Amino acid sequence: MADLLLGQTLAFTADPFQAGPEAARHERLGAVLIEAGRIAATGPAETLRAAHPRARITDYGDGLISAGFVDAHMHYPQTGIIASWGKRLIDWLESHTFPEEMRLSDPAHAAATAALTFDLALAQGTTTLCSYATSDPVSVDAFMAEAERRGLRALAGKTCMDRNAPPGLCDTAKRAYDESAALIARWHGRGRLGYVITPRFAPTSSPEQLEALGALWAAHPDCPMQTHLSEQTDEVAWVAELFPQARDYLDVYDRFGLVGPGAVFGHAIHLTARERARLAGAGAGIAHCPTSNTFIGSGLFDLAGLRRAGIPVGLATDTGGGSSFSMLRTMAAAYEIGQLRGHTLHPAQLWWLATQAAADILGIGGHVGNLAPGREADLVVLDLASTRAIAQRAARAQDFWEALFPTIMMGDDRAVRAVWAGGRPVSAGLWQDARAQAAGHSGAKGDRT
Ligand code: GUN
Ligand code: ZN
Repeated sequence: MADLLLGQTLAFTADPFQAGPEAARHERLGAVLIEAGRIAATGPAETLRAAHPRARITDYGDGLISAGFVDAHMHYPQTGIIASWGKRLIDWLESHTFPEEMRLSDPAHAAATAALTFDLALAQGTTTLCSYATSDPVSVDAFMAEAERRGLRALAGKTCMDRNAPPGLCDTAKRAYDESAALIARWHGRGRLGYVITPRFAPTSSPEQLEALGALWAAHPDCPMQTHLSEQTDEVAWVAELFPQARDYLDVYDRFGLVGPGAVFGHAIHLTARERARLAGAGAGIAHCPTSNTFIGSGLFDLAGLRRAGIPVGLATDTGGGSSFSMLRTMAAAYEIGQLRGHTLHPAQLWWLATQAAADILGIGGHVGNLAPGREADLVVLDLASTRAIAQRAARAQDFWEALFPTIMMGDDRAVRAVWAGGRPVSAGLWQDARAQAAGHSGAKGDRT
């Protein structure tokens, strides 16, 4: 049976970085028709109600219906160590990240962490995660199985490392190739799942391993490839020491065939002019991870400059280096970093980065990321007055963007009224339970703001 969801709707007809805010289409009394797991139509509620009198109606009133959020770069194994105090990148990896990633070789811990991570993401309205797993294939299996069980579109890859990491996390060039190839055969293109070839970053891969993964990508060009690039200045200096022949950090990846369409580079903060020029012609994308970049102290990403150069950018949490599972909080951090760099992002641009642009860099932009006929029905429904602080500001709004912006800047899981994945509602108990538990643990009552 068809479902007809009523509420405000927000969709895009073009990229707002190119076409401006007019690229967004907001319908005050809108509707989304869902048939067989996909969006069949969007438009004015009156028109769709008249055309589909037998559809089952869910009326969200003033709720804002949008494409679900897409998190283009995160590390589900790090959920348990999010918000670990006091370290910068290399130190943080050694003291918090690697020990926790080792624990995910226990299939029960991997399964529990995957389930918890999807619970937390869905509670924030994020319907697609693109995750780094650990170097153990068990951790990929756990993530994919959990996504499949929930009917989610999701991507992940085994995080390959063969040096500068604890022996328990290191594979070899050959194991990286063979285990990744076996995981591609098992998971890539199965239902809504996709496999991402994943060297962690240049410092933890030998030249032989990068070469092997370049060969693997050449053999499977329909898989995306993800890695980290130029996140912190110490890391950039370390890469120059480890790869003295390379012209710069990006050139390390280029030498092994790891730069091209379908590549997704996380962070990309400290780029040279040559690297920018190379990225602009490569068809590769960048995952902008603003809460991570401030939390680990990495730097201020040049979103405006990179977009001007024609480089695709999507938004990502980078949890657990990032400090929030919320794409609203992530949009707010992107806005704040833009302000610090003298570039004011419009709410339409922020929304685009967290939905269609994130899907595009992962190669799934034709499936999810927008309210458009034919797209899979992965949706979030938001309450734009979810706290007293937000509600009192939104009540003064003169237009839609002014009503939306307080939720971008101050919203969290309390703003999420409903989530749909693959045309089915995701249990509302999920985030209500999570919220009740959080309130119980902290002793907090009522509105926290
Ligand atoms: N660089 C290499 N590995 C990681 C990681 O797990 N998180 C972040 N933020 N940067 C990295
Ligand atoms: Zn990362």
